[in-house]
Amino acid sequence: MKLNWPLMENNIPREDLDRVIEFLKTDPILTQSKNVKEFEKEWSEWLGVKYSVFLNSGSSANILTMSAMKYLYGIGEIILPPLTWVSDISSVIFAGFRPVFVDINPRTLCMNDDQVIAKLNENTKAVFLTHAQGFNGLSEKLLRVLEEKKIPLLEDVCESHGAEFKGKKLGSFGLVSNFSFYFAHHMSTIEGGMVCTNNEKIYQICRMLRSHGLVRETTNEELSQSYIHDYPELNPEFIFAYPAYNMRNTEIGAVLGRNQLKRLDENNINRRKNFKYFLDNLDPEKYQTDFELEGSCNYAFNLVIKNSDIEFCERVMTRLREMGVEFRRGSAGGGNQLRQPYLKGIVDKNEYKIYPVVEHIHFYGFYIGNYPGLEKENILRLCKALNSVH
Ligand SMILES: Cc1ncc(COP(=O)(O)O)c(C=O)c1O
Repeated sequence: MKLNWPLMENNIPREDLDRVIEFLKTDPILTQSKNVKEFEKEWSEWLGVKYSVFLNSGSSANILTMSAMKYLYGIGEIILPPLTWVSDISSVIFAGFRPVFVDINPRTLCMNDDQVIAKLNENTKAVFLTHAQGFNGLSEKLLRVLEEKKIPLLEDVCESHGAEFKGKKLGSFGLVSNFSFYFAHHMSTIEGGMVCTNNEKIYQICRMLRSHGLVRETTNEELSQSYIHDYPELNPEFIFAYPAYNMRNTEIGAVLGRNQLKRLDENNINRRKNFKYFLDNLDPEKYQTDFELEGSCNYAFNLVIKNSDIEFCERVMTRLREMGVEFRRGSAGGGNQLRQPYLKGIVDKNEYKIYPVVEHIHFYGFYIGNYPGLEKENILRLCKALNSVH
């Protein structure tokens, strides 16, 4: 039976498009303006942080974060997982940091905290944690050790909007956090991202880095006056403090984001229910069902085959294709990043082998779309079909 189940469906529904049409009828400014400012404010309130900077993508959020870290703390090592998105690693490299990898915890798909702690040293500039696919990657132990050693935590929450640790939203714990609003995620501004922080210095630097490094982008009068004072021969409108980027989003993105944010929590309730229902109905002999669900909020169903049986895995993929269920093997980001050609010459060619949990996900982990409109019977049909693969 065909289920016609894409990775994402109807993530920008009619009501959001109508909102954009209404907005366009007002002859508005379309470049970054009032709606961007409002969206940043509303997002900060929702997340529980002081400042947010709306960008054109989650990758830009990663790049901006790493640039800001370089300017504020200098370069050194950044600890991060091999199971993440390419821009988490490339942003570390672009900024001149050395990426240091650790394996993941199979129950959260996020970094193994003992391994992170073991790799901390005097060169560690930050721990860049990815909350993979809606799971919480934080633990009290990790937070405590980072606090004791005064090592900044950076959270990539691009796949985990609304997930929590101890009742507090992920993305509000770290020095900086990153979100993506790409079409496939919990909410969408078509393309888009956000950098969030409680740190005023980082906020101001990110505002400047987003717009060519321009000093006029800072909202801190003292900071802006200090540049004007130090560079009297420059036009105050065109002082470029950093070699930077243009990563701005538009008013249309912000109008979509503001409307989407109103529904995010409600949609996430359905996502949580759907994922639990999926796991409850899968055969635990064949598939992993013991994920750490507390606080999680998954935009994907994680299907992880228990045994490293390549033939069984082929049969599972055939069944998914027959049923019209779209999937990604290796989870969302293409599996073990250390196998990717872009890291050739940057990390040791054999390094990919030393992270067995990531390697297992690379071959036996799948991601299937989990969106609010999924019907319960279809989830059950999918589980039955998967359970009947031998
Ligand atoms: C963990 C993670 N970080 C960053 C990104 C990049 O976000 P974007 O696609 O908006 O550039 C993604 C993208 O999907 C992601 O999953």
